[in-house]
Amino acid sequence: MKKVELTQKEKPNFLEMINNFLVIGSGAREHAIVNALYSSRLDSKIYCIGNSYNPGIMKLCFEYVVGDYNSSSFVVNYANKNKIDYAIIGPENPLEAGVSDALWEANIKVVGPKKELAKIETSKAFTRNLQVDYGIPGGPKFQSFTTLNGVAEYFEELNHEFVIKFDGLAGGKGVKVYGEHIETIPDALDYCKSIIDSGGSFLIEERFIGEEFSLMSFCDGKNIQHMPIVQDHKRAYENDSGPNTGGMGTYSDYNHSLPFLNDTDIESAKKINLLTMEALKNKTGMDYIGILYGGFMAVKNGVRLIEYNARFGDPEAMNVLSILKTDFIDICKRMVSASLDKIKIEFENKATVCKYSVPNGYPDNPVKNQIIDISEIKDKDKLFYASVNIEGDNLIETGSRTLAVISVAETIVDAEKSAEDNIKRVKGPVFHRSDIGTKELVDSRKSNMDKIRC
Ligand code: AMP
Ligand code: GLY
Repeated sequence: MKKVELTQKEKPNFLEMINNFLVIGSGAREHAIVNALYSSRLDSKIYCIGNSYNPGIMKLCFEYVVGDYNSSSFVVNYANKNKIDYAIIGPENPLEAGVSDALWEANIKVVGPKKELAKIETSKAFTRNLQVDYGIPGGPKFQSFTTLNGVAEYFEELNHEFVIKFDGLAGGKGVKVYGEHIETIPDALDYCKSIIDSGGSFLIEERFIGEEFSLMSFCDGKNIQHMPIVQDHKRAYENDSGPNTGGMGTYSDYNHSLPFLNDTDIESAKKINLLTMEALKNKTGMDYIGILYGGFMAVKNGVRLIEYNARFGDPEAMNVLSILKTDFIDICKRMVSASLDKIKIEFENKATVCKYSVPNGYPDNPVKNQIIDISEIKDKDKLFYASVNIEGDNLIETGSRTLAVISVAETIVDAEKSAEDNIKRVKGPVFHRSDIGTKELVDSRKSNMDKIRC
């Protein structure tokens, strides 16, 4: 374990009434979480366990360590040693590894569901079966497979409108949409076979046609409060071409909806998140405490659920936390004490655009360990570091998404202009999507949805 001690901003009564917060993860999402904690009116001491040196988080933390945050024993030992009161788990892997369970056992309150509940993200079959068993609307026709038996027949049954999903965590890259990522039936069968050969299982499900959006909700197991709706862009290149990524950029609108959605769509998505939180309680007997992130698609006749994540979205966290008006520490304390109904969570009526700068070659063959120059970036406080490291005085990109910038403005178009102006100042072997949040792109989403609905 490598350890760096830094000074956190001293606040009045710093040593009194403070709570120790541990943030797990060191990407841009966790940078946004640490920022939100740091901006609280309540005093706290922030600790972070990361997998590389994130200079943005390090600046705001009391102590930052690099270590194996998927190891429950490592995390619990660290938390006990530092008398941590609350932990916030950023990424999905520690949730899958049961780090939340281990922390609760050690009497540390955790924002981030226990392992069994995190299956809502870690197992696609779990989620689809939950939808069926508890009558939650918005699911596709689907079947789970562990062999090729019946696969070709099921492609036929779905009239070749299908999606193949590896049943496990794959960083957003385990899903192949027929007609987009895979063009022929032999290629589709090959993909299924590659999953079987590696010992995995997969789902084949009905392909939906429409526009995607993310609805994240704060949950305490009994109560739920929703965040503004965001649209992510999963494809690597302009105009939604190229391979799927973790997400290249996002936007949200001043009214917390999106130009292509109507009120009924939003109410349907909120209802699905609520029913899912309740179904999880009924199925497991446990409270879902943390962020429930529904990936939805607006289709011809309503809203469909694409997938669930058991954590903040990345980049979506940057959009919503940048306009959060309610104190984030208050929200965390409410989530872990089943009292979310005691506060009203509010966001500014502002539009946001977030853009990622990623290494050349990302996601399939990214350049690694190259120097990035961010000296020309304006508004450094709008910058969130992701897959980077520090070597001497140099900032190094380590191969995944490098850093993100956020811009907040009255309109999406204005936010886009300043985000674009900032992200193109990153110098080095990197690229970004200049189309995210532009008027052309947002208008095309709306006209696509109008066409689908008519
Ligand atoms: P997931 O990892 O489940 O979010 O899937 C990654 C991407 O695949 C989604 O963002 C969608 O673009 C696409 N996708 C997943 N499931 C479906 C579906 N049933 N119909 C259409 N597209 C889908
Ligand atoms: N924005 C996609 C994700 O966080 O999984």
